[in-house]
Amino acid sequence: MGEIAMTVNGKEVAAEAEDRTLLVEFLREGLGLTGTHLGCDTSQCGACLVHVDGALVKSCAMFAAEAAGREVTTIEGMAGKDGTLSPVQAAFRDQHGLQCGFCTPGMVMATAALLQEDPAPDVPRIRAYLQGNICRCTGYHNIVRAVLQASGQDPDRALAAE
Ligand code: FES
Ligand code: FES
Repeated sequence: MGEIAMTVNGKEVAAEAEDRTLLVEFLREGLGLTGTHLGCDTSQCGACLVHVDGALVKSCAMFAAEAAGREVTTIEGMAGKDGTLSPVQAAFRDQHGLQCGFCTPGMVMATAALLQEDPAPDVPRIRAYLQGNICRCTGYHNIVRAVLQASGQDPDRALAAE
């Protein structure tokens, strides 16, 4: 047990954790940031995705201690301070890219990372990139539409070209 400090959503934070505490547990239980979801705990569902130093990371597959001193961004850090949704979040809302919402934080974090790498991904690239994100509700179609909107593409046109 010891104190672990890191920057989360632009704020320096610290909390007690054990060596084996996972980053997802640290965020949820140590810091109360419950927007990051724990779905499978075995690195298969993508619900726990966050950014660590700008890279997409499954927070159930990283110890909190490994994130010490680093910059972590969670879903709580995506909207503006006044609550304005980020373009990715707004696109998920507009395109009905969520139902129960359990997978949505991970989907949003993955989409943001994808658009950093590839600002205008085509449909196969979107589907391939989100393969590690499981959604039990939507059938993925509206999620793909949301990513297309977030990247400034016309979802109808891009999907018609498939
Ligand atoms: S909870 Fe981390 S991938 Fe499922
Ligand atoms: S919206 Fe329910 S799991 Fe994706």
